[in-house]
Amino acid sequence: MESGGRTRPGLGELFTEERSAEVVCASLAGSPDPRLRRVLESLVRHLHSFVKDVELTEREWQSAISFLTDTGHKCDATRQEFILLSDVLGVSMLVETINHRAAGQATESTVTGPFHVAESPPRELGADISVPGSGDPCLVSGRVAGPAGEPIPGALVDVWHADADGFYDVQKPGAIPEGSLRGLFTADAEGRFWFRTIVPRYYPIPVDGAVGRLLAAMARHPYRPAHIHLIVTADGYAPVTTHVFDADSPYLDSDAVFGVKESLVRAFASVDDPARAAALGLPNPFPSVEFDITLLAAGLVGPG
Ligand code: BEZ
Ligand code: FE
Repeated sequence: MESGGRTRPGLGELFTEERSAEVVCASLAGSPDPRLRRVLESLVRHLHSFVKDVELTEREWQSAISFLTDTGHKCDATRQEFILLSDVLGVSMLVETINHRAAGQATESTVTGPFHVAESPPRELGADISVPGSGDPCLVSGRVAGPAGEPIPGALVDVWHADADGFYDVQKPGAIPEGSLRGLFTADAEGRFWFRTIVPRYYPIPVDGAVGRLLAAMARHPYRPAHIHLIVTADGYAPVTTHVFDADSPYLDSDAVFGVKESLVRAFASVDDPARAAALGLPNPFPSVEFDITLLAAGLVGPG
C-alpha cells in the first residue's frame, strides 16, 4: 500500500495524522446511500482539516463537547437551540439561500425563525392583528404576482411579527393574547393583501442558553432588525419564506442571524391622508409599508 500508514498483509490502512481523513472516508465505502456517503465524506474531510488547521487541544475539544451537550439540553418542544446555533453561524441563511436560488426574479427568501406557528389565525383582508393599545398603528399591503406580473388571486399570506417591546405572543403567553400579531390572509382577485398592525421593533434572539454564551464570547450583540415575517404560498408556484425589514431599524447591517437582504428592506413611510386613515380605522398620519411578492413557478426554485 502506497501511504504514510503502516501496513500488514490483510490489514487495511491504519490511522495516521497525515492520512486521518482518507482512513475514515475509506470506512464509508460500504454506505449504501450515495448522497449520505458524499455528505459524510465531505464532513469528515472538512472536520479533519479544521482540527489540523487550528491544532485543536484536548481541552478545547472537551469544551466543544460540553457546549454541544448544553445546546442539546436546552432543546424542548418549543425551543430549538441547535437551529439557533445554525442561525448565528450563518448556516441557516446559507442553506436557505442555496435552496431558494431564483435567478433574481422572485422575492428573496430568508430564515423562518422559531416563532412561526403552524396554524396562523385566518383573517379578513384589512383586519387589525395588533394588541389593542400598544405600539404605533400602521398599514401593511402588497400584491402577490407571478413571474410575468400576473396577479395570483387566492395566494395565502401568512404573517407574524414581534410586538412594540420586541416579543412574539408565544414568548409571553398570557401577557400577549395568543394569535396576536399573526394572521393568514387570502389575496383578493388582483392578488392584493393588506392588514393593519403596529410598526414592529427590533429584538434580541433568545440568549438564555448555550448560543447566548457563544455570542457573548464572540462579543456579538443578539439583535435582529425590526421585521415582519411572511410565508406566501399559491398553487402551482414555489412558496417563499421571507421578511420585510423596516428601513429605519437599527441592526440592519449586523443582524444576529444574517437574515437581511437588501431587496427585503422597505420604508414604513408616513401617509397623510385623513379620508384613507378614517376608512382604514387608522390615526392620521399613519406609517405604511408596501411589499409586493413575486413567486416563481413550482420547480424553478432550488439548488443547482
Ligand atoms: C426570528 O426572526 O423570529 C428569529 C430568527 C432566527 C432566530 C431567532 C429569531
Ligand atoms: Fe422574527
